Formats: sequence, structure tokens, C-alpha cells
Amino acid sequence: MLKIITVDGPSGVGKGTLCQRLCDITGFHFLDSGAIYRSLAYGVMAQQLDADNELALNDIIALAASLPVNFRAGQIFYEQQDITLAIRNEDVAAIASKVAAIPAVRTALLQRQKAFAQAPGLVADGRDMGTVVFPQADLKLFLTASAKIRAERRVNQLKNQGVIANIDQIISDIEARDERDRNRSVAPLLPAEDAIVIDTSLLTIEQVVDNAVKIMQERAVL
Ligand code: DC
Repeated sequence: MLKIITVDGPSGVGKGTLCQRLCDITGFHFLDSGAIYRSLAYGVMAQQLDADNELALNDIIALAASLPVNFRAGQIFYEQQDITLAIRNEDVAAIASKVAAIPAVRTALLQRQKAFAQAPGLVADGRDMGTVVFPQADLKLFLTASAKIRAERRVNQLKNQGVIANIDQIISDIEARDERDRNRSVAPLLPAEDAIVIDTSLLTIEQVVDNAVKIMQERAVL
């Protein structure tokens, strides 16, 4: 039986790391739905479409419907171009958050996300995995952490990449993005009614993984 685990929550909360670890433990496939929205943002930027302009709306929706993105062995390709790293910057994230608020864009990308559900199972990382894309999931986790803690983690991550970042700027970027993700009319960032919420603010990644594994065992997902 195909099992589905959804992991939702705001940016920088540790979903990606948890999902990778759960995939290693279970051998399940991985859906990074944020990367799909980021790929769309990449295409929007490449085509010089203005995500703030109503007039660009139809072109953005059309691009979402035929998004030339492919996931291969942990890498992401837009047409033939490897965009794995290019979609990780804050400019792309800001546009991803804007295009993700367009209802027709979400509808256009729905089937593409559902198609990741293949045997033996799927770990799906996003904002609406448990509420909209996989409401039938066997286990729904929702991670939270304060904006300050998430910003500190991001600053450390950037430091490891040799980038010096301004923490206040990162906190305000994170808060702006959270605000937009929470308050949009479709698929807002909210835990599903049957989701288990884990506050990761004071937990190490090992503790978050241990918590999740314990819950998976209790639910017979493992
Ligand atoms: O998880 P991420 O930072 O890569 O996501 C980038 C943006 O995409 C984020 O601002 C919200 C949006 N997103 C979404 O609306 N729904 C999802 N399932 C995943 C991401």
C-alpha cells in the first residue's frame, strides 16, 4: 500500500531536512513542492513577466500549465538548464510566494504534484500538502518555529556558504513571506485539522526526526 506523509509549515522551519531524513529512513519518494513554485518564479523572471502586474496574469498561468521543469536524481532542470541552486535565492523565493497566491496557478500545478505519489510512498514538503494536495495522507505533520529562530538558522546556513547576511533584513523577509502565505485566499498556510503540530524552535534536527519517527511508528506508517 502506498503511504503518504505530508510535512507542511512556513519557510526555514526545517521541513526540507526532516523530509530528506524521512526519505532516507523509509525509502519513499520526495516531493519538494516549494521547488515547483520556485521553478515557476524562475520562468517568470526569465520571461521578464511582472508578478505584480495583472496584465501578466494570463501568461503566468499559461507558464504554470506547461512548466518545462524536471526533477532528476536530486537535481532540478528548467528546459535543459540545471536550476537546482539558482532557485534558492531570496529574489526567486519572493516571486514564488507571489505566483503561489494566484488560484489558477495552484490549480494548474495540482496534478503535477499528485503524480509524485508512487510506490512505496511519498514524503511531501510544502504549505498545503496535508490540506489540499494529499488530504488522504496517512500522516500529516506541521512544523512551526518563531520567525527569529528561522532567520537565525538561515543566517547560519548562508554563513556556511560564505555569505554574510543581515539578520534584521532576513527576519523582515520571512515575516513578509509568512504573511502572504498565511493570508492568501487559496490554500493558505494552515495545519490540516488532523495534522500533528511540532514546534521546532527549541529542538535539534535529531530531536525533530526522533519525534517524527515515533509518531510514524505509532501510526503504523513505518
Ligand atoms: O518552501 P519554499 O520556501 O521553497 O517555497 C517557496 C514559496 O512557494 C513559498 O513562499 C510559498 C510557496 N509554496 C506554496 O505556496 N505552496 C507549497 N505547497 C509550497 C510552496
